[in-house]
Amino acid sequence: MILVLLGAPGAGKGTQAEALSAATGAAHVATGDLFRAEIAAGSPLGLAAQQFINAGQLVPDEVTINMIQARLAKPDAASRVILDGFPRNPAQAAALDAAYAASGREISAVLLKVDRAILEERLTARRVCPSCGRSYHLLSRPPQSAGVCDVCGSALITRSDDAPETVAARLANQLAGLDSVVELYRASGRLTEVNGVGAIDEVQGRLAAAAAAAGLTA
Ligand code: AP5
Ligand code: MG
Ligand code: ZN
Repeated sequence: MILVLLGAPGAGKGTQAEALSAATGAAHVATGDLFRAEIAAGSPLGLAAQQFINAGQLVPDEVTINMIQARLAKPDAASRVILDGFPRNPAQAAALDAAYAASGREISAVLLKVDRAILEERLTARRVCPSCGRSYHLLSRPPQSAGVCDVCGSALITRSDDAPETVAARLANQLAGLDSVVELYRASGRLTEVNGVGAIDEVQGRLAAAAAAAGLTA
């Protein structure tokens, strides 16, 4: 099955998907991480995506849908997948449904609900590991040693799109698309809403329960 993890920028998708993937063994596939890997590699796709990401806009559907379809065709995505950051608009949701219509593979969505004021604070205090991708927060999830990744020891950085003006642009440009995707999954009876506010472990407990109810268990 495919569990679509929906949420605004900073809602905790990456943090929660990482933990749910570790607990269930499902593959964690994140479009933002795929774009960042392409940018780091200097590929044409990365160069094309970078300008949109730095402007807080969605990367065009054609680029994004081709990239995610190639990723979902890999062997580790053959059975259970947690999808983080895709779909973000109705065209992407339709492409996902169409890709699996023939196989009958089940697609369910969970929305992590977080108020906007909290999103801004989470994003501006985030630090990330450029090597392994793990997210930290200066207050709620600090690394054990300041500025250093707990997992791999790399120096932590601030994501370029977490600059305050880019955070504002992301929230201004992307929340309407999220709302329309939420409504699509709600209308087709495939949506569960989870309160995304609280300690990271507490939210993970709620998400794990919703995922299990949708058919994703360890
Ligand atoms: P992407 O990387 O997906 O960014 P995003 O959706 O803006 O989400 P974030 O990764 O910023 O937040 P998150 O929800 O993962 O939160 P996190 O767990 O890190 O996409 C980047 C860009 O790529 C997009 O802007 C777009 O340009 C492009 N793109 C991606 N997908 C696309 C698509 N499908 N179509 C077109 N373009 C696309 O947590 C945030 C912070 O909060 C961290 O510091 C964390 O430690 C902290 N935190 C998490 N949970 C809690 C908690 N419960 N309490 C306190 N702090 C918490
Ligand atoms: Mg993320
Ligand atoms: Zn790391």
